[in-house]
Amino acid sequence: MSPKRSRTAPDEFARAGRAAKFLLGKTRLRPRVAVVLGSGLGDFAEGLEGATRVPYAKIPGFPRSSVVGHAGRLVIGRSGKVPVAVMQGRVHLYEGHGIREAVFPVRVLARLGVRAIVFTNAAGGIDPAYGQGALVALRDHINLQGTNPLIGANDERFGPRFPDMTEAYSKAFRATAIEEAKRLGFTLHEGVYAAMHGPSYETPAEIRALRTLGAELVGMSTVPEVIAARHMGLGVLAISCVTNMAAGILDRPIDHEEVLQVGERVKGNFVALLQAVLPRIEAATAGESSAGKAEASHH
Ligand code: HPA
Repeated sequence: MSPKRSRTAPDEFARAGRAAKFLLGKTRLRPRVAVVLGSGLGDFAEGLEGATRVPYAKIPGFPRSSVVGHAGRLVIGRSGKVPVAVMQGRVHLYEGHGIREAVFPVRVLARLGVRAIVFTNAAGGIDPAYGQGALVALRDHINLQGTNPLIGANDERFGPRFPDMTEAYSKAFRATAIEEAKRLGFTLHEGVYAAMHGPSYETPAEIRALRTLGAELVGMSTVPEVIAARHMGLGVLAISCVTNMAAGILDRPIDHEEVLQVGERVKGNFVALLQAVLPRIEAATAGESSAGKAEASHH
């Protein structure tokens, strides 16, 4: 082991490669696009055809997700004609995993050959213009988790030491998603997502502060994964489901059960949007290397 990589011990790149190889041995599909499903949004994975479903616990090196509402498995199947790798549930920082562990699945997706990822999450709405159940494409984020998945020795095989984040969320993917939502008859909003550590929800004072900072949504996930994805040059689309208005926006407490129920309510639109967007994202990745070498290309 080279001392340069000692902080990623034993060797994250090799570990991610082993997990990817394990998964590729279970299916003939070679997805170039992946979807990460957030709380209450797991339904999309049920509708895939020719699906191979692998519990995270079986994948070498994968952290375990323990959150209610997350199935905790990786599904490789077809959405229509598009081969897709779907993470049904993710790990969050608040579960106590190290942040590098939390983004390990994203490393594995890249080593599988994926070139673009659609992240989804449940979020609190700070902008009162969003109603409960609104779907919002992330335009940008504010990382308030106080940490970063790239802390520690950098492995150049994944990407550069100082990755650019000026367009972390692909403008082109976002425009595609907004267009497809319109065609399906609903509005896909755009917003800036503030990532908090959790697991406690925010206080009303924190939400006022976040609003002043320019955040329109708040959540406890996605940002570390997006940073890791951009580190590897993957294209990113992220869609939040506003499962509740953020603390203090309405005069009532926030309940995790309600968060899951709102996911249930919007899943029709949500699944339809994913189905419409995936072929176009897949087409946009055509011609790109699918070696999972994670060259630091831009989108
Ligand atoms: N805050 C943080 N994370 C969340 C929320 C919230 O209000 N709703 C769903 N995830």
